[in-house]
Amino acid sequence: METLTQLLTQKLSAAFEKCGYSPELGIVGGSDRPDLCRFQCNGAFSGAKLYHKAPRMIAAEVAETLKDDPQLSKIEAVGAGFINIDVSDEFLLGYVKQVLADKDLGIPQAKTKETIVLDYGGPNVAKPLHIGHMRPAVIGESLKRLTRATGRTAISDVHLGDWGMPIGLCIAELSERCGGDLSKVKISVELLNEIYPFASARKNTDEEFYDKARAITAAMQNGDERYQAIWRDIVAVSVEDIKKNYDRLNISFDYWYGESDSGKYIGELVDTLKKEGLLYESDGALVVDVTQEDDKITVPPVMIKKSDGSNIYATTDLATIIQRMREFDPTEIWYVADSRQSLHFTQVFRCAKKSGIAPQDVKLEYFGFGTMNGADGKPYKTRDGGVMKLEEFYNTVYEAALERVADSKYSSEDEKESIAHRIAVATIKFGDLINHRAKDYIFDLDKFMASDGKTGSFLLYTVARINSILRKTGEPGEFDAPEIYTEQERDLLHCIAASGEKIGMAYAEKAPNLVCENAYALSCAFSKFYHDNHILTETDENKKRAWTQLCAACKKMLEKHLDLLGIETVDLM
Ligand code: ARG
Repeated sequence: METLTQLLTQKLSAAFEKCGYSPELGIVGGSDRPDLCRFQCNGAFSGAKLYHKAPRMIAAEVAETLKDDPQLSKIEAVGAGFINIDVSDEFLLGYVKQVLADKDLGIPQAKTKETIVLDYGGPNVAKPLHIGHMRPAVIGESLKRLTRATGRTAISDVHLGDWGMPIGLCIAELSERCGGDLSKVKISVELLNEIYPFASARKNTDEEFYDKARAITAAMQNGDERYQAIWRDIVAVSVEDIKKNYDRLNISFDYWYGESDSGKYIGELVDTLKKEGLLYESDGALVVDVTQEDDKITVPPVMIKKSDGSNIYATTDLATIIQRMREFDPTEIWYVADSRQSLHFTQVFRCAKKSGIAPQDVKLEYFGFGTMNGADGKPYKTRDGGVMKLEEFYNTVYEAALERVADSKYSSEDEKESIAHRIAVATIKFGDLINHRAKDYIFDLDKFMASDGKTGSFLLYTVARINSILRKTGEPGEFDAPEIYTEQERDLLHCIAASGEKIGMAYAEKAPNLVCENAYALSCAFSKFYHDNHILTETDENKKRAWTQLCAACKKMLEKHLDLLGIETVDLM
């Protein structure tokens, strides 16, 4: 369905046209002066240039045309040529009713068929899942949900790092420890957690060991069955652990492909690059030049094969593009990865376009994200300065949440645990997503878990409070409020009416933080409404029903927002 500003734009466009001006001047947006009106149109200023007429005159003519429109409670030409607009209560109520009946809750839907592959998460198998894996998964999951909410097809792929040096290092170390007979090794998460950091440190001081790990990596990639058998065990155990961690945070994937799955397309990749005359030798390696004339920074050639014939990160990313085009025929592919990988993606995208692996009309987008830091402004660490595991991080937040609900008189012990879990997830995710993804931020547990302010807790609390009201009043039935009784009620209705458009903007900018901001705005509008209108003690039955319905409407809209953020709500708190 259309947004409220689209409907008003149609109205104003028709009015401009009726007065002999271009309908394109009728664009309506939210007001810069909410104290004067809720919507405004500045088209008269552009009109003045086109028609050599004072903007004030154009604005006055257009406003005059609409002065008897029953859907508008205000249409006024003011100042140098602004048009201030308000909608009538009847129109607003009717619009909100439509939004609530709409299966998409008023979120603008894509007009064409679009399929987007989202590549996020990207954990590396064999390495323990650490705090650095939280952001790509949380942001990517929200972008996926946002994409689906706008009527597009989103296909998520975790793109495991399952094919590179970390595996070779682990196998090299394991093979020494078991005296060369890898079939004796029993892989477990604990073993991997111990072995990877050990082997990774060892490679820095033990050149012979490093060479061996390199040789093993190459042999594994080229199909050595002994190494592939242990590699399969490592992947299986790691993936199980990764799934457990992601599930806990409501993060899921349609595909659990890894870099290794692109292996069968590498031959085709190399052939295509050769055929296009793009591949050349440089110091024994095979590379593709991806510079462009207007480059402000040096973009080095992208390496496809190292001098020892092995593949690198860019090789598998390019081969994965072939795989994705074949399997999913997407209109766009998005990558959520660390900001430091910007150059890598520039190289890969250019090579993909230049070679035709990605057709010209397929959009390749990279969404870099910043770092989550501790109070010292450096990447979040354990108390003793070590790398914090994702599980450990969740547990810290969960323990704090459990303490918060410990003396809740409303819930049983079992419920307390599930409520604390949801508070923990909301705290982590909202705390992350409220920041624009590209920014670094400091994780401050007390601040992020506070029961008011821009926090997950505040939003869960709002929903719980509405639940408590609805338990007392009973479900109010479909929204059919006959009139608006108070200003706070009107504010909340406007907030609900504008939500779809706000979510549409969040999609357009790929910015889940805008969903967070709007969810917060809804919660604040609800708090004011609830504070000033005494729903439970109201004696006028019509008023009471209208207000209860508004509570239910607000809850529905808030839950939609939280769902887009991948946050589950609680019944009580
Ligand atoms: N595994 C990579 C890393 O740990 C992230 C993967 C991002 N996705 C991609 N297609 N390169 O940095």
